[in-house]
Amino acid sequence: MIKRCADLLRVVNVRTIPHYLVYDSSCSHSTCSSTVVKENEVSASSRKRIPDDGLTLQHFIKKSERRPRQKNVIPTPEESDDYLDPEDLKGNGRTVNYVTYGCQMNVNDMEIVRSIMTSYGFNETDNRKTADVVLLMTCSIREGAEQKVWAELKRLKKTSARRSQVVGVLGCMAERVRHDLLSNRNLVNVVAGPDSYRDLPRLLAVARAGSDAINVQLSYDETYADVSPVRVDLDSRTAFVSIMRGCDNMCTYCVVPYTRGRERSRPLESIVDEVSRLRDEGVRQITLLGQNVNSYRDTSIQTVENLPSTASDSPFKTVYKPKIGGRRFETLLDKVSEVAPEVRFRFTSPHPKDFPLELIELIKERKNLCKQLHMPAQSGDDETLDRMGRGYTRDTYLRLVDDIRNILPEVSLTSDFIAGFCGETEEAHQRTVDLIHDVKYSFCYVFPYSMRGKTKAHHRFEDDVPQQVKDRRHLELMNAFRSEADKINRNLIGSEQVVLVEGVSKRSEHELKGRVDGGTITIFPNTGGFQPGDYVLTKIVGGNSQTLRAVPMQKTLLS
Ligand code: SAH
Ligand code: SF4
Ligand code: F3S
Repeated sequence: MIKRCADLLRVVNVRTIPHYLVYDSSCSHSTCSSTVVKENEVSASSRKRIPDDGLTLQHFIKKSERRPRQKNVIPTPEESDDYLDPEDLKGNGRTVNYVTYGCQMNVNDMEIVRSIMTSYGFNETDNRKTADVVLLMTCSIREGAEQKVWAELKRLKKTSARRSQVVGVLGCMAERVRHDLLSNRNLVNVVAGPDSYRDLPRLLAVARAGSDAINVQLSYDETYADVSPVRVDLDSRTAFVSIMRGCDNMCTYCVVPYTRGRERSRPLESIVDEVSRLRDEGVRQITLLGQNVNSYRDTSIQTVENLPSTASDSPFKTVYKPKIGGRRFETLLDKVSEVAPEVRFRFTSPHPKDFPLELIELIKERKNLCKQLHMPAQSGDDETLDRMGRGYTRDTYLRLVDDIRNILPEVSLTSDFIAGFCGETEEAHQRTVDLIHDVKYSFCYVFPYSMRGKTKAHHRFEDDVPQQVKDRRHLELMNAFRSEADKINRNLIGSEQVVLVEGVSKRSEHELKGRVDGGTITIFPNTGGFQPGDYVLTKIVGGNSQTLRAVPMQKTLLS
């Protein structure tokens, strides 16, 4: 190992991964010590490009210099670096255990990581204790999400059967916590942010040689468009396809723009190709994914589609002027729903500002575009919405809901809410409860507010709602949505619904579970030998706030 240090260390000050690789100088090899570059010795010019503490608000407002494009391919071990022995990058059958926390984007990112690792010759293992490498895909959205990861890192340290086990932290927490993850050197060896997964084999090689390695550089154009995700669970005949990354919205409470970087979209053709492949493999439901999925805007080729995603007279405001040019979400939905007519499409997570009515018309027109829209409201109170920087008022939001329901009367709406944001009064909270009763969502995710470092709220506001008040408001919001969802589901009793079967119900092997078009989980007895991937026409016979019960009638087709 020591023999290789000279090569590994030389990489640091040469070109490909300059200052964000952290090396310790513990190597005693004489050639190494002269070439060790520590973080604080990095040239001023590279520091200017990527600040030590990551992106700040200014990076989202000012037009900043574009960084050089990353090569949009996974380099083969042979091409990967001029200074590393290609053998160092190869997995050579080393085993990796993958652990995923956080949102669906993380699940999808882990599939990309699997693909990269597999192409380098690493093998997956379920055994975390004996794995050569453990990779944790992490989330930073709330304090609790990070605490879970710290707990797992400590557990790993205790349970690992191998002293040489390499532990890598990937994803949003890697991007946010950065060097603090490495400073506890006993727990973590590799830190890789969301845009640096192509660099993982090299980071692991550096770690194997006894040094810690970090790459948290965010990119303006990395979408992993060319990486075929290695999907682990296709039994349900459902799949997720990532179409864009990053977020430009800067809601004041949210850490995502800092951990995931600027918005960028994957070329439309690469998505249509992936959808076609999944269709051919028998997948029957595809969920298009992105941090702001409906802000999709493919600028990879010149187009005549010059329409802004949000009209200039739109009542929805953002920190940016409406973006012009590129192929929009509506065009993408049109293409994918046409190319795979027997596949149901859903998408998450959208922002209310990017729901032009032509998009809703398209959803109405196509049978395979599910009539289920996630419309995160976050709050029903204007002052709170303003402090959150959401860019709309309660009234604007409600008008959008009305417009959508005029076109799609049967639409099923879902939402996200935050309980106890900075400065939220009891009256403000009550207005959110009222909004939930007014809109009548079929499902809501409700989160107690968790203050995150770096965010605008952290700089400007006080986290002044006591925890027990947050918890009580959280419960009240949950109860409000559940009571409406219960009514919505009971109203469906007697109706006929097409359910896409996803698998056997957890409760009984004689029952199947699937989803109606609106997205609600539906259970019914398997009296017809139905399989995952079948569309079954059912009659709804029961329902509560979370599930529907049905009896099957016959197998059917969508188109
Ligand atoms: N881009 C998506 C949201 C991604 S984060 C959107 O705008 O809908 C998912 C949800 O986490 C958010 O909608 C919000 O409700 C919640 N969230 C984000 N930051 C939070 C924080 N600091 N505390 C509590 N909940 C938060
Ligand atoms: Fe966070 Fe707002 Fe972006 Fe959603 S839109 S990821 S809540 S900043
Ligand atoms: Fe968490 Fe990052 Fe997703 S903070 S919610 S893993 S985008």
